[in-house]
Formats: sequence, C-alpha cells, structure tokens
Amino acid sequence: MKTKYAIVFICIVALVIIEKESNILSRVSDKLIQRQTPQQTPQTPLDYNNSTQNGSLSMLKMLLSKLTGTSGNYSNFSEEEEEEELDGLGRYSYSGGRKHILLLATTRTGSSFVGEFFNQQGENMFYLFEPLWHVERMLTMAGEANNGTVLAGIYKDVLQALFLCDFSPLEKFISPPPQDHVTPALFRRESSVSLCEEPVCSPVIKDVFERYHCKTRRCGPLNLTLASESCLAKKHYAVKTVRVRQLETLQPLVEDPRLDVRVIQLVRDPRAILASRMVAFSSKYKTWKTWAQDGQVPEDDEEVKRLKGNCDHIRMSAEVGLSRPRWLRRRYMLVRYEDIARFPMQKAEEMYRFTGIPFSPQAREWILRNTQTTQEARGIYSTQKNSSEQAEKWRFSIPFTLAQVVQRVCGPTMKLFGYRFVEDEKMLTNKSISLLEDKFFHSSKFQL
Ligand SMILES: *[C@@H]1O[C@H](CO)[C@@H](O)[C@H](O)[C@H]1NC(C)=O
Ligand SMILES: *[C@@H]1O[C@H](CO)[C@@H](O)[C@H](O)[C@H]1NC(C)=O
Ligand SMILES: *[C@@H]1O[C@H](CO)[C@@H](O)[C@H](O)[C@H]1NC(C)=O
Ligand SMILES: *[C@@H]1O[C@H](CO)[C@@H](O)[C@H](O)[C@H]1NC(C)=O
Ligand SMILES: *[C@@H]1O[C@H](CO)[C@@H](O)[C@H](O)[C@H]1NC(C)=O
Ligand SMILES: *[C@@H]1O[C@H](CO)[C@@H](O)[C@H](O)[C@H]1NC(C)=O
Ligand SMILES: *[C@@H]1O[C@H](CO)[C@@H](O)[C@H](O)[C@H]1NC(C)=O
Repeated sequence: MKTKYAIVFICIVALVIIEKESNILSRVSDKLIQRQTPQQTPQTPLDYNNSTQNGSLSMLKMLLSKLTGTSGNYSNFSEEEEEEELDGLGRYSYSGGRKHILLLATTRTGSSFVGEFFNQQGENMFYLFEPLWHVERMLTMAGEANNGTVLAGIYKDVLQALFLCDFSPLEKFISPPPQDHVTPALFRRESSVSLCEEPVCSPVIKDVFERYHCKTRRCGPLNLTLASESCLAKKHYAVKTVRVRQLETLQPLVEDPRLDVRVIQLVRDPRAILASRMVAFSSKYKTWKTWAQDGQVPEDDEEVKRLKGNCDHIRMSAEVGLSRPRWLRRRYMLVRYEDIARFPMQKAEEMYRFTGIPFSPQAREWILRNTQTTQEARGIYSTQKNSSEQAEKWRFSIPFTLAQVVQRVCGPTMKLFGYRFVEDEKMLTNKSISLLEDKFFHSSKFQL
C-alpha cells in the first residue's frame, strides 16, 4: 500500500516539474512569436513541449509499469531481453542497438571534415549537419540568446527529439515556418547525405530557373515527414554541432533510456582557431586584425574576454568528460584535430571503435580520397606529413603578439590538451619545433 502512495506522489511531483518546464518554454515561445510576427493573428504557440513532455511521461509510465507489474508501453520486453539491453552499467537502454553520436566542437576545429567520417558511413547512418543553427538564429533575432541556461535547455530538447527522429521541435525554429512539414530552408541540407538520397529527396523535373535543394540530385524542398521516416529506418544517427557550450547540460539527453549516446568532443589549438577565424569570419574579427597590425591588444577588451570564455567552456566540458562521471562513462571521447590531421585513418578507426559502429568501406574510402593519399602513394608522401602540414599553416598567418594573447587567456585549456607555448616569433614559425605534445586521453576502453 505504501509503495502505491509513493508512486502516486512521485507522479504528482514529476507532473508539476514538467508543467513548470513547459511554462518557461512557452513564455519564451510567446515572446518569439510576438517579435517574429508582430502584425499577424496569434498562431499556436511554439510548443516543443510535445516530445519532451511525452518523453517524460512515457518514462513515468515505464517506471510505473515496472513497479506495479502492470502492462505499459515497455511490457513487450521480456526479462531476457531486458538483461540483454543492460548497457553494462546496470542501466537500461531501449535504443535497440541504435547508436546516437554527438560530435561536439566549436567553429574552425575541422568539425565539418570529421562529421564527414560519419556522414559518409553509408546507408546505415542518418546524419545531420548543424541543426541547431536554426534555433540559435531565431533566438538571437528574438533577443533570447543571451540567457545561456535557457538556450542550453532548448538545444538539449531539440537534440533529444531529433535523436528520436522527431523534427517537430526543430520545425518551430525554421524560418519561414515549414508548410505541412515541408521546407526549402533547412540549413545546409546538402551537407547531409541522408537528406539528399531517395526517398527523402523527392525528385523534381523543373525548368532551369528553379532552385534545387541538393547538389548531387534535383531534389525539391525537404519533406520532414519523409526525413523522419527515413531516420527511423536507419540503424544509427550522428549529429554535428558547434553550438553546445557545456557538456553537462546534455546529461538528461545522455541518460535518456531510449537513446544510446556517444559524445565525441573535438578540440583544436586555440591559436589555430583564432588564426582560422580571422580568415573565415573576417568582418567579425576586424578588431583582431587591427590588433595584428598595431601589435597592441587591450587586455580587458570584450573580444579578449569572449576568447577567454570560449576557451574556458571548452576546457570545462573536457574536464567533465575526462573526469568520467557515472552518466558519461564509456560515452565520452576527446579528440584533437591535430591528431586527426596526422593520422586520419587511425583516428577514424578509433572513433568508430568507440561508437561501436562498424567502420564501413565507404567511410574508409572517403577518408583516403580526402586526405590526399592513395594506398600506393602512402610510402612516398605519407598522409601524416601532408595533412599535418595543412594543420600547421596557421603558424605563418598569426602574428606572435596574438599568439601570446591566446596563450595568456587560454593557457589552462592549452595545457590540458597538450599545446606547447611559443616564446618568440622564431619558435612560432620554426616548423621543426612541434607545438603538439603527445598526449593520450583516456579512451572508452579504460572507462569501466
Ligand atoms: C503543449 O503544452 C501546453 C500547456 O502545457 C498545452 O496547452 C498544449 O496543448 C500542448 N501542445 C500540444 C501540441 O500538446
Ligand atoms: C504533438 O501533439 C499533438 C497533440 O497531442 C499531436 O497531434 C502531434 O502528433 C504530436 N506530435 C508529435 C511529434 O508527437
Ligand atoms: C510518445 O509516446 C508514445 C508512446 O507512449 C510513442 O509512441 C511516441 O512515439 C512518443 N512521441 C514522442 C515524440 O516521443
Ligand atoms: C535565464 O532564464 C531563467 C529562466 O527563465 C532565469 O531563472 C534566469 O535568471 C535567467 N538568467 C539570466 C542571466 O537572465
Ligand atoms: C510528405 O511525405 C509524407 C510521407 O510520405 C506524405 O504523406 C506527405 O503528403 C508529403 N507532403 C507533401 C507536402 O508532399
Ligand atoms: C598535400 O595536400 C595538398 C592539398 O591539401 C596537395 O595540393 C599537395 O600536393 C599535397 N602534397 C603532398 C606532398 O602530397
Ligand atoms: C629551428 O629549430 C631547430 C630545433 O630547435 C633548430 O635546430 C633550428 O636552428 C631552428 N631553425 C631556425 C631557422 O631557427
């Protein structure tokens, strides 16, 4: 009798929590709607409460059915199957062998390249490139992107739904809003093989003025219902994102028993990142360019603070991962871009081993082709030499003064990842001096 009361009590508490969460979210949504469409008649509020709420509720149902022995959503698992689904930590996973890879990075760390390792895996993989771009853009326009807590919560919710092949929370952030779940505006759709192949690509034969939505095929606008069906039919799922700032905000996602998440954090020398950003985002990095010419960098400038903030977030996420908290055990891997540049195939193999997904011949071939080596050429020009040359170009494009600034504000981050400091201009540009310490980050197999 007592347990029954306890269960009822737990349910009520949980429902109250869920209710509160959706209130905060719908307040944000209401604001968004007001700013987005000031003169339109009210629409339905942005309610991505669906998937999360449903998710929490079905978890509750599952718990209930386990406790009371009544049949629920999950009762079709027999005892033996449940044993098999145990993930070795005494935790239940209902993902059915499906792996959910989250490639976490920041811009200019080679994340598009590394994302391809999974995008090119073949027919078993559903891959999305930066889906959170839409969320960030819309919240920025609504002036809501400043609150890191709110932002992180929404990112987590959207990712969670996406991993369950539910695009509806993401749809609320796509602008213009999809009509009947069809949109021509998904950011970088063409970067995702699975969104440009049949049947997700609905072939169109139109006149020359019509815009097609994939590079390799004449695809019409993206039907997200089809994308969702295709997603459900795939064995595995990978998402690349540069927008999640703090790993610990993803804990509820990682602990979702419907998912089997593997987080790969990709890092790079912050001096190289700055050098690369100054080229790639030249207008945004105007201030840095001026400093590069003047040789003077004001200590307390906002830009310097932002750089420090970015470095700190990357380091703190890595510290969480490397400290192997229970919720992340065997689910976290840290990879340095420089190591991938030096040993692309070996690193790709390691990443695949970590995820538990077979490293397909297609992925292998893509890597060979795109690291400028063929099997035959290996002996003469090793992959190693050439890609690391690429990865070191920044040493000649960043002035020593800026490298110094990075070393000052990103020092602890650089130390953690094994990036050597330079003492002068000569050392910076002397290629026979390596700025990379050999460093071994405990990989999953040691995390028991
Ligand atoms: C979302 O939640 C709100 C309040 O919690 C509710 O009014 C609304 O109907 C929900 N939307 C859907 C689609 O379930
Ligand atoms: C969201 O909830 C509404 C109303 O309950 C339902 O019609 C819709 O199919 C749900 N969407 C998803 C993706 O579950
Ligand atoms: C909601 O839960 C039901 C079963 O309880 C499930 O069939 C459905 O797919 C879930 N929807 C989402 C969006 O999680
Ligand atoms: C962010 O939003 C949450 C929830 O609305 C609020 O409690 C918190 O104070 C906000 N933080 C900042 C810095 O505005
Ligand atoms: C999108 O695909 C679904 C599933 O095949 C289909 O039912 C729907 O009609 C399609 N939507 C449009 C607008 O073509
Ligand atoms: C190294 O790669 C670049 C392109 O990234 C290519 O142009 C060059 O020929 C390669 N060099 C060697 C030695 O293989
Ligand atoms: C570069 O560094 C190496 C090793 O420290 C040194 O022997 C060499 O003289 C340096 N080259 C230049 C041009 O300073």
